Amino acid sequence: MPSGNDSGPLAGHYGLSVAVGSAIANDAFLRACRGLPVDRVPVWFMRQAGRSLPEYRAVRGEGSMLGAIARPELATEITLQPVRRYGVDAAILYSDIVVPTHAIGFGVDIVPGVGPVVEQPFREARDLDRLRPLNPEADTPYVLETVGNLVAELDVPLIAFAGAPFTMASYLVDGGPSRTHALTKRLMHGEPDLWAALLDRLADLAIASIGSQLDAGASAFMLFDSWAGALAPDEYRRFVLPASQRIFAELGSRGSGPPGIHFGVGTGELLELLATAGADVVGVDWRVHLDDARERLGPEVAVQGNLDPAAVLAPWPVVAQRVADVLNRNAGQPGHVFNLGHGVLPETDPEVLEQVVELVHGHRATV
Ligand code: CP3
Repeated sequence: MPSGNDSGPLAGHYGLSVAVGSAIANDAFLRACRGLPVDRVPVWFMRQAGRSLPEYRAVRGEGSMLGAIARPELATEITLQPVRRYGVDAAILYSDIVVPTHAIGFGVDIVPGVGPVVEQPFREARDLDRLRPLNPEADTPYVLETVGNLVAELDVPLIAFAGAPFTMASYLVDGGPSRTHALTKRLMHGEPDLWAALLDRLADLAIASIGSQLDAGASAFMLFDSWAGALAPDEYRRFVLPASQRIFAELGSRGSGPPGIHFGVGTGELLELLATAGADVVGVDWRVHLDDARERLGPEVAVQGNLDPAAVLAPWPVVAQRVADVLNRNAGQPGHVFNLGHGVLPETDPEVLEQVVELVHGHRATV
């Protein structure tokens, strides 16, 4: 199997160390991201590390999640656990989208069972001062150490990630998870200049954070715009797209830089727009059939997805049929990374995910 070289050595600003340092033994994921033929369909799972794994609960203990992320040995072990157990084709760093904003002192924590919670939400222009630039070496040295540990051990690519400007703004403005994103949308429509300045800062944070993970050796990246599906297409185009576009442009996607994945939930109405942000791969949730997504996105963009995370709770014959349906809808085209349509649910039986990986790997790939 060809190794590593399709990632474009020395061409981008980022990802230099991976190009120079190590050839990745299993590069099916990177090839699929670039739309190249593969021997077997690569698969990994969003939230593959976490509460559905007993070995995660055993090492994680009771402390804060941000505390666990700040311990490189522990974060390395947690990142490796699902790779060992499932035999997935990519690892995703054990971290969280709030790590950079936490690290610059904005005042955000992760509350178990709730998610990110902000002490003093973003309200006015002077709150911009609380969003200073990230200096990765000084602010998140533990992330860089974890990435370094991981690339020395992994024989699959490591995915770097960050929260996209809209999803980050939704936490910072609404103060925590919100069903309606009411305060976020109020700011977006009511104070468009302040909104643009906020998204600009958040794009800078994402670029600095992802860039540092790539420089430390990660070989692809994913921008999570989990809640972008709350927006109408014209809102997305005007208020969000420019900031996300800048992220993919600066990180060198669709060129010789590391492959970039762009993902949101409930983005059926936004798929083409998500693609115009410039990612190599668009993550598709389970509400859009993969064949429809491919038709709408065209042959230049790879897709990632899209088994319903709740489908894996069904009896095995049903799960197997649903997995086959996703694969059949892709119809053997290159440029498919198998994944769930959103993160692994805590109720998931890890043994079922093991079987899903086996099934995907046993499928005849590119026609
Ligand atoms: O396995 C992986 O995917 C890598 C690690 C990862 C986590 N969070 C670990 C985590 C990644 C990529 C994220 C991204 C993230 N964090 C997103 C985008 C992806 C998505 O799911 O849409 C979002 C929206 C967040 C914010 C966040 N952090 C939420 C909503 C929660 C869940 C709160 C809960 O307890 O139900 C978290 C906490 C979190 N992040 C956990 C994990 C493993 C669970 C808490 C724990 O184990 O202590």
